[in-house]
Amino acid sequence: MSRVNTKEIGVALLGFGTVGAGVVETLQKNGSLLAARLGVRPVLRGIADLDLTSDRGVSVEPGLLTTDGAALIARPDVQVVVELIGGSGVAKDFVLQALKLGKPVVTANKKLLAEHGAELHRVAEENKTEILFEASVGGGIPIIKALREGLCANRIECMYGILNGTCNYILTRMEDEKLPFDDVLKAAQAAGYAEAEPSLDIDGHDTAHKAVVLASLAYGCEVPLDKVNVAGIRGLAAADIAYAAEMGYRIKLLAIIRGGPDGVEVSVQPTLVEHTHQLAAVAGVYNAVLVVGDVVGTTLYYGRGAGRAATASAVVADLADAALNLRSGGRRRDPGTAHAQSPVLLRNPGDIVARNYLRFSMRDEPGSLARVATALGAHGIGIDSVMQQEAPRNAEYVPVIIVTGPAKDREIAAALAEISHIAGVTDRPTVRYRIEDFD
Ligand code: HSE
Repeated sequence: MSRVNTKEIGVALLGFGTVGAGVVETLQKNGSLLAARLGVRPVLRGIADLDLTSDRGVSVEPGLLTTDGAALIARPDVQVVVELIGGSGVAKDFVLQALKLGKPVVTANKKLLAEHGAELHRVAEENKTEILFEASVGGGIPIIKALREGLCANRIECMYGILNGTCNYILTRMEDEKLPFDDVLKAAQAAGYAEAEPSLDIDGHDTAHKAVVLASLAYGCEVPLDKVNVAGIRGLAAADIAYAAEMGYRIKLLAIIRGGPDGVEVSVQPTLVEHTHQLAAVAGVYNAVLVVGDVVGTTLYYGRGAGRAATASAVVADLADAALNLRSGGRRRDPGTAHAQSPVLLRNPGDIVARNYLRFSMRDEPGSLARVATALGAHGIGIDSVMQQEAPRNAEYVPVIIVTGPAKDREIAAALAEISHIAGVTDRPTVRYRIEDFD
């Protein structure tokens, strides 16, 4: 990046939504503090959005507002571009335009990075500039900086993340108030915690985007999003949360990223976590990421994973880095990890070994449990514990929970398929969740 000799760094803000307004507010509130710390002041040259009339709760000079993002990016007094539009449509065009002009881009856009990260990083390299994306994962938690800088002496052995505030809020309320999923989702939507169209969050895609960003950074590779195993929390039964609690577990939507000799596991699924584990204590809209490095050991990062102020904090921190780098003529501080090799070898999901929580709807007659246990045993699956609630008299089928010993995913799947074909033993598909032992 060529050195910029100025006391001001001109900033173009693309997208004046919740986070955009938070960035403006943060610059207004702490701009002088930043300038004193950095020796250079980030100054907004313009804000581009298609909606120039909605009240965002911050006052800006009307002359700053424009609907022409491309013209704003191209202005010679703009040195850094902040992309807060979201998605991979026009946001991608604007990011590419800025990078091709050699202007660093700050973005919170995990979807764009997860889908097109390799291409964007390549264009940034070719144009001797950079993409900064602290706000894309974990909101205000400086997890990207931790990976790029604080932990750069380490090989990352594994990471576990609670990366979606909406899902964690829903799961926490379901457990605390013993409420069904649909009721909590509606309440979360009414309170503004969940989107009117919630599938990006509750079906696990937002978490998957963030997992891909973290994995590609940790392993220096492109991670193909479409190869990541993703399951969300839609329709998760309150009964399973209650049974899990009785057995000493909480259910969390967990991103799991684990390196190994036969590839990297990147997956997202509702997972049972022992209630004494640090991640089990992460409640409500909070996020947390546990990172294990081969030198440092276990580290844990916790904070607000979403929202106007927390996300703005991360965006402005990146803006500060971009400004400093422009002043010094340097670029990113990580040792070129992102997208060094591509793509990563993802582990075959069938090979992944874990314990499992299984809830059978099992015929209440002698021999049912034995037949299920035999089928599991035939696939080399041991049983760690069994729990059967007393069912109403004359109930034909009753819930029976089996916690398996460690077993390969494909063996569990095969055993459950077999059990489903044993006539009359179960009357509906078996509910299955992974148990994470963190070892
Ligand atoms: N919707 C996300 C969440 C925040 O609920 O955590 C943006 O990724």
